[in-house]
Amino acid sequence: MLERLSSVEAAMRDYFGADQRRIDHALGVTGFAEQILKHEKGDRLVVIAAALLHDIGIREAERKYGSSSGDLQEREGPPVAREILTGLAFDVAVIDEVCAIIASHHSPGEVDTDNFRVIWDADWLVNLGDEFDLKDDRKTFEMIRKIFQTTTGMSIAEQIYLQKDK
Ligand SMILES: [Fe+2]
Repeated sequence: MLERLSSVEAAMRDYFGADQRRIDHALGVTGFAEQILKHEKGDRLVVIAAALLHDIGIREAERKYGSSSGDLQEREGPPVAREILTGLAFDVAVIDEVCAIIASHHSPGEVDTDNFRVIWDADWLVNLGDEFDLKDDRKTFEMIRKIFQTTTGMSIAEQIYLQKDK
């Protein structure tokens, strides 16, 4: 399985090419997904493939529409992910699930699975500081309670984003 996932990582690196920021983001989300999976339920092959490829639609969204908005990424990502995973001979069921997660990764509630929740939390662990002003620890704490969907994601978020008071 490790080998299959490193081939997905290599394909993602290839696809993003010189866009190191996107590669770093995908690897950051993958790292948090691994951490969350140590304590939460989830299928590692699906979760890690989805973490590596979750933003893969961004390049087509920018090329076609000049925008990287969430809904365009959700639309453009699955065909690219499907091509990559098909090329690596992944099972259709795994490909379908990864694509469903990518198609909804900015839309909570559409995919109600353990695998989705891990990706959702891992992406927010990377993005929270960029998306919100986190100066007020009480508000940050409330936001973490509202956004995160697994107890592990929540506690990692508290460790990262509430450390100012400690
Ligand atoms: Fe992301």
